[in-house]
Amino acid sequence: MTVQSPVARQSALPVDPVFPARWSPRAYTDATMTAEQMTVLLEAARWAPSAMNLQPWRMAWALRGETGFDAILSGLVPFNRGWAEKASALVVFASKDEMTGMDGETKTNVWAGFDTGAAWMSLALQAAKVGLYAHGMGGFDPKALAEALNLPAGHTIHAVAAVGYIGAPESLPEGLREREVPSDRLEMAEIAFHGSF
Ligand SMILES: Cc1cc2nc3c(=O)[nH]c(=O)nc-3n(C[C@H](O)[C@H](O)[C@H](O)COP(=O)(O)O)c2cc1C
Repeated sequence: MTVQSPVARQSALPVDPVFPARWSPRAYTDATMTAEQMTVLLEAARWAPSAMNLQPWRMAWALRGETGFDAILSGLVPFNRGWAEKASALVVFASKDEMTGMDGETKTNVWAGFDTGAAWMSLALQAAKVGLYAHGMGGFDPKALAEALNLPAGHTIHAVAAVGYIGAPESLPEGLREREVPSDRLEMAEIAFHGSF
């Protein structure tokens, strides 16, 4: 079943329509995704920019029905588990914490989170381009998820994303149904300042 997004967000300014069109639904159909489809989304993430081109992002993913999917699901907080279990795929976004500086010293890569955020957004926008929806989640148990996924030492999990085809809001339990609408944004004057903060 193809479900149309309930609201097509639009910007008053001439940005590419993909920016407002991307949003984070919680209702997904039971459609499956292939590993090839997921690889294309990961490829978009791979092209994200990063400090010193260190590409600190590391992504662990699985399709619904695979053992890895259940492992990721088990690390989510119950609220997220409740709706994300219907997604076609789950992706965990982690990063490598350390880098070798220009001086050859090992140090914390303070940009790792920023860069991994860029990778997540690239994946989310690529998903939107091909009719998929990616929903980021910060609600997970970092220790449980790290253990379940054999996260190597020196890495940090930043977020998990549910990916799939948008489902009907009616498929959600009451309480989530009315929240199934795209959100608005702060006014430009509240977030961008010409010259200084
Ligand atoms: C890092 C991050 C963490 C988030 N955590 C959760 C979460 O745990 N559960 C959830 O339902 N949504 C979560 N969201 C989704 C946000 O609530 C959503 O992106 C925000 O309200 C803006 O809406 P939009 O993505 O539909 O434009 C998260 C999003 C991001 C980027």
